[in-house]
Amino acid sequence: MSITILGIESSCDDTSASILKDGIIYSNIIANQTVHMDYGGVVPELASRAHQQNIIPVVHQAMEKAGVTAEEIDAVAFTRGPGLLGSLMVGTSFAKGFAMAKNIPLIEVNHLQAHILAHFIDDLKNTYDHPEFPFLALLVSGGNSQIIVVKDHLEMEVIGETIDDAAGEAFDKCAKVMGLPYPGGPIIDRNAKQGNPHAFEFSRPKIQGLDYSFSGLKTSFLYFIRDKVKENPNFVQENMNDLCASLQYTIVDILMNKVKRAARETGIKQVAIAGGVSANSGLQNALHEAAKKFNWKVYVPQLGYSLDNAAMIAITGYFKYLKKEFVGQDTAPFARMTIK
Ligand code: KG4
Repeated sequence: MSITILGIESSCDDTSASILKDGIIYSNIIANQTVHMDYGGVVPELASRAHQQNIIPVVHQAMEKAGVTAEEIDAVAFTRGPGLLGSLMVGTSFAKGFAMAKNIPLIEVNHLQAHILAHFIDDLKNTYDHPEFPFLALLVSGGNSQIIVVKDHLEMEVIGETIDDAAGEAFDKCAKVMGLPYPGGPIIDRNAKQGNPHAFEFSRPKIQGLDYSFSGLKTSFLYFIRDKVKENPNFVQENMNDLCASLQYTIVDILMNKVKRAARETGIKQVAIAGGVSANSGLQNALHEAAKKFNWKVYVPQLGYSLDNAAMIAITGYFKYLKKEFVGQDTAPFARMTIK
């Protein structure tokens, strides 16, 4: 029997809908929101209003591109959390309404789990190499930095996580200090390619075990820039590429050190990266280098499936559909959710 799932993602500032048929993604439509650019970060109220405007056209486009009608959809999977509550409510309410109107099951999806399960996506153009269980996942996004042992599609254990800022937040906040627009991560990545990663040195956290901390780095970067700008007001402009390269080198080094430790301690040699920061070229290079050195097999998600997207929600929904993990109309979104 064929299974068709509609996936809905609205946790932050991207409205996305995807159609999956029998484990294969047929469409993945993402509407980015540009209203936040002037504010240096996502403004929650503006995000939920933009989701309200986008959700119906985005779902419509996803169905049209996939050549699927509303009658053919067997279940709706939606991001329940974590994320901005107002934004989550738009996707959740839409999913509930759709499921009720068509009398089909509703499936809640944890956004973090979905980022990891993006590694199991195949689409109409390609089938990809999928990790085997158990594997280690480094989940790095604007809100999370975690090391996870993935035992099965729906069985994951967090073995390390940030005690303060996330890696993406460190990129974005340091970018803001340099006067770069939001989100600064991709811009730092671009500038870093022309810079010297050893031009400047920034402080590294001394955190026990497999946990991360990025707030100290952010503060030391802020003070460093403040002092240098006092001496030379053009310091940032004159050293932009070297600053970006050195900062990226430090963040990637902090991330990779704990992943290496996790691989050593667990004996697992398959490592996948997930979340928005997994698009970072410095992180991808460091992962491939470690793979050669330690004989790991590594997995980097396709760009369209690494940032926030509904294809990862649909594939997670598909695994839950197979296990009949459905929820009722009384399901409310959660701003905070962890991987179980
Ligand atoms: O997973 P994601 O799309 O959503 C949230 O967690 O909101 O991740 C977004 C984060 C942002 O902090 C952004 O700056 C970062 O991912 N990011 C990057 C790159 N692309 C996105 N950071 C560094 N280098 C990149 N190429």
